[in-house]
Amino acid sequence: MDKDILTKTVSRLTASPKGILAIDESLGTCRGRFEKLGVPFTEEKRREYRELLITTPGIEEYISGYILVSETALQKTKNNILFTDILNQKGICVGVTAYTGYSVFDTVNEVKQEITEGLSDFAQRIKEYKKAGAVFSKWREMIRIGENLPTEEFLIESAKRLAQYALICQAEDIVPIVEPEVMIDGNHSIEKCYEVTAHNLKIVFDELKSAGVFLPGIILKTSMVLSGKDAQNRASVKDVAKMTIKCLKENVPKEVGGIVFLSGGQSDEEASLHLDTMSKLGGLPWHLTFSYGRAIQNLALQSWAKNPEDVASAQRLLLESAKRNSLASVGKYK
Ligand code: 13P
Repeated sequence: MDKDILTKTVSRLTASPKGILAIDESLGTCRGRFEKLGVPFTEEKRREYRELLITTPGIEEYISGYILVSETALQKTKNNILFTDILNQKGICVGVTAYTGYSVFDTVNEVKQEITEGLSDFAQRIKEYKKAGAVFSKWREMIRIGENLPTEEFLIESAKRLAQYALICQAEDIVPIVEPEVMIDGNHSIEKCYEVTAHNLKIVFDELKSAGVFLPGIILKTSMVLSGKDAQNRASVKDVAKMTIKCLKENVPKEVGGIVFLSGGQSDEEASLHLDTMSKLGGLPWHLTFSYGRAIQNLALQSWAKNPEDVASAQRLLLESAKRNSLASVGKYK
């Protein structure tokens, strides 16, 4: 492990006023989003869409890294240039997502807790991603809030997997993005989300530390502390910002290299407002920024689905969303 390489990559990825763009939707998720908008789910359509995202002029002003699925990391533009070469030319870091899918860990009150798979051959695969140009990677665990959920056993096992993944990455000088996402689904209160997020972060960092992960060489990708999507009287922007900051301050070790947020089903506007408000409040040892997927892609995808010929309009929408979140990351959006 070269600590210098790891911390330099972390600094590039979290350099203000930029953030990370996640375009690593799994095949299943991508199918759902394409089919909802009437886009045929073919490899060529996925390539075409991701070419649009990767070749957007000027995006490098707002985006420090793209997270890809392994399929995208090997694809080329219609003019036969590797996507990874385009990103490198723009000075954007390439990341490849590490997990291969989910399996059911257990079922509680008819709700499935799903755990991430892909560790057994990851030490091999990461070498291929590195050869393809990756300097960082991502592993996401999904934590569901519900009656008697999440269970302690599940939190411990998913944290152990995050720690094993992070160790394998760092042995190859690849920065691991460690992403335990507390899901927005449900009608829980913001206090419940706070309690679950705080407890889970504690478990995750206990496991990372005991596995010997080099904390300045990781990025934590976290969900915000929010009311459930179906909750009545959802918490205000200010409360989300305050409680998220408090939760991170109390549960994330200061040495951690950087913190980025996922948008996780918030509206585009909410995701920007929450980040903007947190940036204004400040008071944390890390510069907070975004690693959004949906909240940056939504409008561009809708525009392209309606009018695939008009790539320029979709790219303009992508650029505007990236810029909005870049401004939010320095508290200058509103
Ligand atoms: P969203 O911002 O759409 O939640 O995606 C970010 C991500 O990478 C989830 O793993």
